[in-house]
Amino acid sequence: MPSTDRRIDKLIHLLVKNATVVVPGPKIASEIGVTPKKVWRWIESLRSLGVEIRGVPMEGYQLVTVPDILVPSLLRAELGDHPIGRNIVHYFRTDSTNAVALQLAAEGAEHGTVVVAEEQTAGRGRLGRAWYSEKSSGIYASIILRPSLSPAAAPVLTLMAGLAAQKAVSSATGLVVDIRWPNDLLVNGKKVCGILTEMSAELDRLHAVVLGIGINVNHSLMPPELESIATSLRMEAHRGISRVQVLVALLRELERYYQLLLKDGNRAITERWEAASTFAHGKRVRIVTLAGEALATTTGLDASGALKIQYDDGRQESLVGGEVVEVK
Ligand code: BTN
Repeated sequence: MPSTDRRIDKLIHLLVKNATVVVPGPKIASEIGVTPKKVWRWIESLRSLGVEIRGVPMEGYQLVTVPDILVPSLLRAELGDHPIGRNIVHYFRTDSTNAVALQLAAEGAEHGTVVVAEEQTAGRGRLGRAWYSEKSSGIYASIILRPSLSPAAAPVLTLMAGLAAQKAVSSATGLVVDIRWPNDLLVNGKKVCGILTEMSAELDRLHAVVLGIGINVNHSLMPPELESIATSLRMEAHRGISRVQVLVALLRELERYYQLLLKDGNRAITERWEAASTFAHGKRVRIVTLAGEALATTTGLDASGALKIQYDDGRQESLVGGEVVEVK
């Protein structure tokens, strides 16, 4: 499926700008440069995404509520002029925003480009898993970064993304949000956000890093196979949450932490991460890697962002991959 036609974005922008009045169909059509029939068809597809648009016979269309859809015009209106989010590519449906972003990065997309979708048909998770990507309920976004850093810096970029997401989610919802290494967000012990970092690099230089961020926002229930381990912001806050507001906050926080990393280096991120996560120090965990499973206690982060652990048999290790599960 191609990215969203810029004229649909214009249509939404026009309706939002004139939210208090009924806008005649032909006027919309001439302003965005399509036929009235096409306007009607696009309005029908926006309705199927939950956008409430009133049709007044012989008069035109009027928005009932400001839509919570992640199109560039609604996001850009809330973002300042910073590199992250200056260029936003929107899809109503795509396979994986990470796959699209990696492709765009290979074609030369600029630093800060954001790919966002209302729905993914093949959302990718960490460790080869799938990411549940229900239509219009979650945020599925991939951000392209072009840092002039070595590939060794990639783990800290991953931690940085987790910190930014934590800050964005807690400020938009008021919920208490924990970070499980490396960057899962948990609310009341269940996962609400996952991050998959993918990159293209040479041995000594990162070409592009794609931060793929999935947030469960307005799901009213999780599928049975996930309900014991995952939840949504709506289910925890007991109210609907604006996806636009969460994504805008996320892009702003990413810009802030990215500048901090460039200015002050890894330590600025790892110290903040340690302060923000209950998993940093003294947490009893089960470590799951390709080599098997073992019980351990966490002892902080090293300068590269690896999680230091002490196994129950006394061995110490700095973990760079795999999975950490809390043991109660
Ligand atoms: C995890 O397993 O915790 C990471 C999940 C990452 C999901 C996001 S959704 C947007 C982006 N596109 C993808 O295909 N995956 C990431």
